[in-house]
Amino acid sequence: MTSDLQYQSGFRNHFATEALPGALPEGQNSPQRCAYGLYAEQYTGSAFTAPRHQNLRSWLYRIRPSVLQSAYRPLPERNVATSPLARPAADPNQMRWDPLPIPDGPTDFVDGLLTIAVNGDAGAQTGCGVHVYACNRDMTERFFYDADGELLIVPQLGTLRLRTEFGDLEVANGEIAVVPRGIKFQVRLAEGTDAARGYVCENYGSPLELPGLGPIGANGLANPRDFLSPVAAYEDVQGDVELVAKFSGRFWATRLDHSPLDVVAWHGNVAPYKYDLARFNTINTVSFDHPDPSIFTVLTSASDTPGMANLDFVIFPPRWMVAEGTFRPPYFHRNLMSEFMGLIHGEYDAKAEGFLPGGASLHNCMSPHGPDAETFEKASHAELTPQYQGDTLAFMFESRYVYHPTEAALEADFRQRDYVDVWSTLRSHFDPNQA
Ligand SMILES: [Fe+2]
Repeated sequence: MTSDLQYQSGFRNHFATEALPGALPEGQNSPQRCAYGLYAEQYTGSAFTAPRHQNLRSWLYRIRPSVLQSAYRPLPERNVATSPLARPAADPNQMRWDPLPIPDGPTDFVDGLLTIAVNGDAGAQTGCGVHVYACNRDMTERFFYDADGELLIVPQLGTLRLRTEFGDLEVANGEIAVVPRGIKFQVRLAEGTDAARGYVCENYGSPLELPGLGPIGANGLANPRDFLSPVAAYEDVQGDVELVAKFSGRFWATRLDHSPLDVVAWHGNVAPYKYDLARFNTINTVSFDHPDPSIFTVLTSASDTPGMANLDFVIFPPRWMVAEGTFRPPYFHRNLMSEFMGLIHGEYDAKAEGFLPGGASLHNCMSPHGPDAETFEKASHAELTPQYQGDTLAFMFESRYVYHPTEAALEADFRQRDYVDVWSTLRSHFDPNQA
């Protein structure tokens, strides 16, 4: 294997990378004969006719073309669901889960996935699936691709090494990785990681992109140069391996007689990437009140309606709290958009307890939520000096489409069935005689 974890920086740059000198053709994409006897294969991440700024394609120069595979056979059902569910079960109740337990037996990334909720319609390329994973072994003779969506991976515990057709990435707590739709990869536990846990958003819709900055100007939020894609790395390995595909809501498997990680060179503007959330340039109030949490958007997937995201990936990073005369934690709210939330590390300022790193909450369209009673009391009387909230990193997968929790998530032992009680002790402070 030629990988040494080298990255190239930029968001959707037109990268050109080769693991052997001269493997990339000069001045054309599909020469009559490629250098080193390679095959040329195009991968498109958008329709051919997508507008230029959204047009995504890469050319791969590989030892064997992807068509070299045997027939796919469907695999047995597993804990991964796709929208629409057979029995859709959207629910207005606020929901919360403890972290998914690390499995007892050997479990790899693909086997360790469990779907919490889905929305939209994968076949119509709208909405997303929200999964959690817990695993403790490498994928070795097994590779995976997801034809239903791109995968946004948010590790909470342990560091993953993603070995992809485009090269290798390592992604740790505090970082994210995105594997575009259909790209073949394998997940291994990085050195020093015995078990890993985290979240995966399977985005069925348009590929994630950087949000517009409007009046913020040219700089701020996630800066393009902090996104890292791998350099080309390949292995020329013969042997019986399994390629698992998620296609149209089902898992399928085919056999290959070689590793599919055999791309010697590639060029183009679609590739897996990673991003360190600590690089996020956080912007917030320096006077009073809260900007809406859209100010914390890292990546967004547009829907057909301008301004209504198919999916927003939003973080609540470490930051200074300086708002004057303001209730500083997130206020009570009811939103049009539906919110799945997770915690990468530390504490979240709207909840005194119960929302744990690796845990999750779901607040669907118009379902009220906000600070628990203890947080409300404390923040209502807090002295408003500048405070640094350093140990925190929460995130949201926010969508215009209502989330349908899966049966597995609803019935899970790690679901907190009494979550709604966190607000039960909020009482009336109303006194018509006291302004
Ligand atoms: Fe919310």
